[in-house]
Amino acid sequence: TFVVTDNCIKCKYTDCVEVCPVDAFHEGPNFLVINPDECIDCTLCEPECPINAIYPEDDVPAGQENFVALNADLAKSWPVITERKDGLPDAKDWENKPGKLDLLQR
Ligand code: SF4
Ligand code: F3S
Repeated sequence: TFVVTDNCIKCKYTDCVEVCPVDAFHEGPNFLVINPDECIDCTLCEPECPINAIYPEDDVPAGQENFVALNADLAKSWPVITERKDGLPDAKDWENKPGKLDLLQR
């Protein structure tokens, strides 16, 4: 499965959601996750993210292994998103800032 990682938090550009053939993306207030029960590893979403927040589960950035379980967990309660929308208002300011997990809203 593919996994959304830290860099998406507080940016949420949503370019990733429209290419998914199985509607695996789920949306929270300031982050998206991929449902591992739906993802078929098509790889289409990975290059769509302008800030490279999506990785295969066995290749997430060092220190972000916890995002694998986090995606699975949050996908259970967050609604599916299939249409692109604008990124968060101050997304530009948060691009590539490390360690945004403490700012995740559930
Ligand atoms: Fe959807 Fe493919 Fe991305 Fe999995 S890899 S979340 S199936 S677009
Ligand atoms: Fe997040 Fe990138 Fe998608 S910022 S919403 S993973 S396009």
